[in-house]
Amino acid sequence: MRDFDEHNITEAVIDSLAQTGDARLKTVMTSLVRHLHDFVRDVEPSFDEWNAAIDFLTRTGQMCSDTRQEFILLSDTLGVSMLVDAINHRMPEGATETTVLGPFFVAAAPELPLGADISGGIEGERLSVNGVVCAPDCRPLAGATVDVWHADDDGYYDVQQADLQSLAMRARFRTDRDGRFAFTSIMPAFYPIPHDGPVGAMLEALGRHPYRPAHVHFMIAAEGYETLITHIFDAESPYLDSDAVFGVKSSLIAPFSRDDQSGNIQRGLTYRFGLKPLPNIEGDN
Ligand code: BEZ
Ligand code: FE
Repeated sequence: MRDFDEHNITEAVIDSLAQTGDARLKTVMTSLVRHLHDFVRDVEPSFDEWNAAIDFLTRTGQMCSDTRQEFILLSDTLGVSMLVDAINHRMPEGATETTVLGPFFVAAAPELPLGADISGGIEGERLSVNGVVCAPDCRPLAGATVDVWHADDDGYYDVQQADLQSLAMRARFRTDRDGRFAFTSIMPAFYPIPHDGPVGAMLEALGRHPYRPAHVHFMIAAEGYETLITHIFDAESPYLDSDAVFGVKSSLIAPFSRDDQSGNIQRGLTYRFGLKPLPNIEGDN
């Protein structure tokens, strides 16, 4: 085949996929080629623009390391992460909605007893969190693992603070026989996503800010249920309606109440988490 032009090249590339053994790969690549070619036909980039796009993607890759994933940030800030999440988490009534994992999860957080203080000695407004983990029909789930992590009151996670000697503001708990867990910590603040790389430059060029509203992350796992990855957002935080990564859902916004304990304000969060049963046990419910 030869003499390709803007009218026949798309079908020619799709024809070249005919021998793809993996049917799913063939479907994905066919759609990718179609959309990519349609995008180019729509935008009609100059060579300078095309080279700028290649340069942007090259710098995005070069920004990646063991501790920085600029491509996920790009996916997050273009709403792709939340779209993939929505497609894969169509939740039944009674199950908690999901949102992005984010880059600050640490798999090896220490398992602590219920009620522990996880602040790691970092100062801030005190926060008390009480949660219960249930099936959608409200049956409490005992023995579920609950990973929690959050930023400090300057908006930084422990892993962003070179001077911290150990993990802080993160832990793993196991729910008690009533499905309950509890811990104390400090109030997290709203914060910017890492914006010192190509994604930050893109946001600036688009006139967008890099901020996320204040939140606490939760990852909750129980046998027979889909692992829930979510956050609970502070109802009083700025940026609830302009989260840089499109991660806010109304059902995940909760009051962080104020309790005046002899002049010291303590904030409180109480939340019920519903887990979605895995398909093989769904029929039993
Ligand atoms: C986070 O909430 O930790 C986060 C999520 C997406 C991008 C950056 C940070
Ligand atoms: Fe976060």
